[in-house]
Amino acid sequence: MKAILVDKNSADGLNYDIQKRIFEENGIEFILYDCQTEDEIIEKCSDADALLVIYKKITPRIMDNLKNCKVILRYGIGYDVIDVDAATERGIKVCNSPTHCLDEVATHTIAMILAIERKLIMYHENVKNGEWLANAGYKPHRLSSQTLGLIGFGNIARRTAEFAKGFGFNIIAYDPYLKDDIFDSMNVKKVDLDELYKTADVISIHTPLLDSTYHLINKDSISKMKDGVMIVNTSRGPIICEKDILEAVKSRKVKAAALDVIESEPITIKNHPLYDIGNIIISPHAAYNSVEAEEQMMEILATTAIKVLNGENPKNIVNSKALGL
Ligand SMILES: NC(=O)c1ccc[n+]([C@@H]2O[C@H](COP(=O)([O-])OP(=O)(O)OC[C@H]3O[C@@H](n4cnc5c(N)ncnc54)[C@H](O)[C@@H]3O)[C@@H](O)[C@H]2O)c1
Repeated sequence: MKAILVDKNSADGLNYDIQKRIFEENGIEFILYDCQTEDEIIEKCSDADALLVIYKKITPRIMDNLKNCKVILRYGIGYDVIDVDAATERGIKVCNSPTHCLDEVATHTIAMILAIERKLIMYHENVKNGEWLANAGYKPHRLSSQTLGLIGFGNIARRTAEFAKGFGFNIIAYDPYLKDDIFDSMNVKKVDLDELYKTADVISIHTPLLDSTYHLINKDSISKMKDGVMIVNTSRGPIICEKDILEAVKSRKVKAAALDVIESEPITIKNHPLYDIGNIIISPHAAYNSVEAEEQMMEILATTAIKVLNGENPKNIVNSKALGL
């Protein structure tokens, strides 16, 4: 049997040794490609029993050309690169790695909030330029005087809430799919979206990218937010309309934006014009990253693939309900 990785270089610096070992020990051939196009994926990966993917889109056309495929696995928590409905229609299981980087993304979210509120990047640049000014830019607020609004209250948002409590934030969250006791058990106030927009000083986004969350943050929703709100996104770029948030930061309606993900990622040019606006910090979709998280993800995905190929149904089949499992 063959496990084929479609796009080994889509994320830089990954080490596949753990997966090579696990697949080898289980008699499965592990093949790594760096396909760039849909046609190349079809040409090279059609005999995969398990197809693994980092960032390339796995379309219905690709699936129609997979002769033996039982499972498609995504390196990460979000699986929006895979057309899950199309996979379900073809009886293919879709799996992710749901828990390997909860601490990392929550830590990154808090790091971004702290960097902005404490003006670390601005201070660093100023001092580098010989400007020793404690009051450059906006006046920071004490974190315990602020309300943190979490959109989506799944695993990462809940870990973020745990960390944020240490700084004394008042925490509110919007997630219409969860029961009240999840919010109550964490002492987080459940609110609707309009109340979150009206009340939060810092808004952090933690939903998957879905039709219902595409451009959730746009001109209209921003107009409902407090003047001077901070927006943090460590989930998926297209949840925020890039043009609208840039305008809002420019007008100072939004005090600052911290984006680990952005609609037009990857940014690969020097001095991108969006930096002219100021008060935006960006990291290269790296919130997940740590030695420990990577090792865990590699192990989870390889063992998941093997379980599915052996006829088992592990918990991280994201379309298990739709497949009637
Ligand atoms: N930047 C990174 O490196 C990185 C790493 C891992 C995950 N992520 C992103 O973070 C997202 C969240 O991860 P998670 O582990 O917390 O997932 P999760 O599945 O545990 O939580 C997602 C939550 O969003 C809620 N939700 C869905 N639609 C919603 C809507 N319209 N409004 C409000 N809430 C909604 C769900 O009910 C769920 O509770 C992932 O989908 C992924 O895209 C980013």
